[in-house]
Amino acid sequence: MKSSINMKRILFVCLGNICRSPSAEGIMKSLIKREGKESEFYIDSAGTYRGHAGSLPDERMRRHAAKRAYTLDSLARTFYPAADFVDFDLIIGMDDQNVADLKSLATSDEERSKILKMTDFCQKYTSYTTVPDPYYGGEEGFELVLDILEDATAGLYQKCLE
Ligand code: 4NP
Repeated sequence: MKSSINMKRILFVCLGNICRSPSAEGIMKSLIKREGKESEFYIDSAGTYRGHAGSLPDERMRRHAAKRAYTLDSLARTFYPAADFVDFDLIIGMDDQNVADLKSLATSDEERSKILKMTDFCQKYTSYTTVPDPYYGGEEGFELVLDILEDATAGLYQKCLE
């Protein structure tokens, strides 16, 4: 991976890496680009389940994101503990199961300390303690994912600048 010593390296993680975490990746990259801080961040996403590896984000997720001018075009990949716990400073799960799965894969306190939950960065959607999985639900679930992620990425970005 390309990174420099001063770069903040953030990996977003969900189950399939086709709905929530690629959206978090796309929204965060868009915010960083808008702020002209591309040289200061390295952003990626991954899934704890490998069944969708190699796929584009879910068509519904891409369609809802496109309405807000986000292009989601990353290909799904599996979370690789050996590499990802080294390559990233923050590893951010979308729900409690993601966080539990990541913690079960960590092999040191340093690795465990990198694991956080996305909703911890919410400033408006503070009643949500997870980014709800939209996969088996209706269209409104995809809008809610984007609402929560826009809020949480803004909070995360602020924290990264502190
Ligand atoms: P994601 O959503 O974790 O936000 O990418 C899901 C995608 C696929 C499945 C579940 C959740 N699935 O069961 O295949």
